[in-house]
Amino acid sequence: MALWSGRFSGDRKNSLIDFTESISFDRRLFRCDIAGSKAHVKMLAQCGYVSKATADKITRELDAIVSRIEKGDFVFTPELEDIHMHIESEIIKKLGDEGARLHTARSRNDQIALDIRLYLRELSKDIICETRTLQAALVAKADENRDTIMPGFTHLQHAQPVLFAHHLLAYVEMFERDAGRIHDCIRRISLCPLGSGAIAGTTLKIDRRMTAKMLGFSGPARNSMDAVSDRDFICEFVAALAIFAMHVSRLSEDIVLWCSEEFGFVELDDAFCTGSSLMPQKKNPDIAELARGKTGRIYGSLVAVLTICKGLPLAYNRDLQEDKEPLFDAADTVLKILSVYPGMIRTMKAKKERMLAAASDPCLMATDLAEYLVEKEIPFREAHKKVGKLVRFCRENGKKLDSLSLKEMKSLIPEADEKALTLFSPVRSVSRREIAGGTGFREVRRQIGFWKKKLGTANH
Ligand code: ARG
Repeated sequence: MALWSGRFSGDRKNSLIDFTESISFDRRLFRCDIAGSKAHVKMLAQCGYVSKATADKITRELDAIVSRIEKGDFVFTPELEDIHMHIESEIIKKLGDEGARLHTARSRNDQIALDIRLYLRELSKDIICETRTLQAALVAKADENRDTIMPGFTHLQHAQPVLFAHHLLAYVEMFERDAGRIHDCIRRISLCPLGSGAIAGTTLKIDRRMTAKMLGFSGPARNSMDAVSDRDFICEFVAALAIFAMHVSRLSEDIVLWCSEEFGFVELDDAFCTGSSLMPQKKNPDIAELARGKTGRIYGSLVAVLTICKGLPLAYNRDLQEDKEPLFDAADTVLKILSVYPGMIRTMKAKKERMLAAASDPCLMATDLAEYLVEKEIPFREAHKKVGKLVRFCRENGKKLDSLSLKEMKSLIPEADEKALTLFSPVRSVSRREIAGGTGFREVRRQIGFWKKKLGTANH
């Protein structure tokens, strides 16, 4: 019998029970729910609403429920709807009237608002920690490839030579911002909803500061209506996960391209690839592809939580129960990606010669020549035009930029000298980009040093 059944007549149909239950997915909140109840009952005792002895008994039973659920020795049933009612019913079953005092000055509305906040606080630690592991794997791969040169791309066309390490560190920057976003979101979950009741607070003289403090919040939420109906933090959290997934998806796309015959820049370890059931020669980068594909469901979760909240009148509405499955699915998916991705990066082999060969087309150094002319006080636009004409000259006459004689070069660029002929090596090109944030060898080494220190790479 449901705890709220007082004003209702008749039994509920199974299909309706199935439709309304959330225990199938909110049971994972049990630790948070019990932590909240323990703080609440302690406060009720302090304020004189339950005796110290009752509070102690309830606390002991709550602890026992945690170990029973952990052991798989607790029966969940859809009739009891959600995790809050399962735990409260169990307390009442064990302690009778004493247990029936637990829900004093509390509603499931402030209870669930508390539980998800506590849950996200813990979950964020795992996600940030795993993100650090991924960053560390990328930094270690960059460190192994301090001198590996590859073509950098814009519009997926060869642009300029860059260090492979520089490319990898670009992703380390993205994941740093992702961790920062999750951190920010948690920082905003700093006020405790307990004591907001169903909507309007309570007539009972409870101490909201005490529960807030016990549960690690900076204080009680200022507005009870906002506190029970706010799900901004879920939207923010899932948005942060969606942006993270977008970054993983971009990296996956790079890796899929790099593995292709056409690029041939990296080889993934066999463990991270699968074969084809039909074509015996195939080695497919499925882990990268699946990570890219799973991004779709995380975006779906974000759209779901935003849509659930949109158009809800204040304050709590049962629609809000629907926020949990997309939240949990997005978090589970991100953790799944993070459980395999660092290993794939660690075991990925760079094919250095292939990358260097692809970066050796002298056309990739055309900008270097234009900038060299700028050093000779030619306005950049003019230098750009002159080099463009030189490139066309080469194309029309079947020549390469690096095989022109000084005479040929001077015929189109009179300001050119012997040194201009030496600019067409990718190693030279990279080594001339020692600007802050550039792809120069020393600069990238400095960046690797920065990340190793920041991430304490030794620990990963
Ligand atoms: N299972 C509900 C949820 O997730 C808990 C709160 C239910 N409150 C209520 N008044 N029915 O939102």
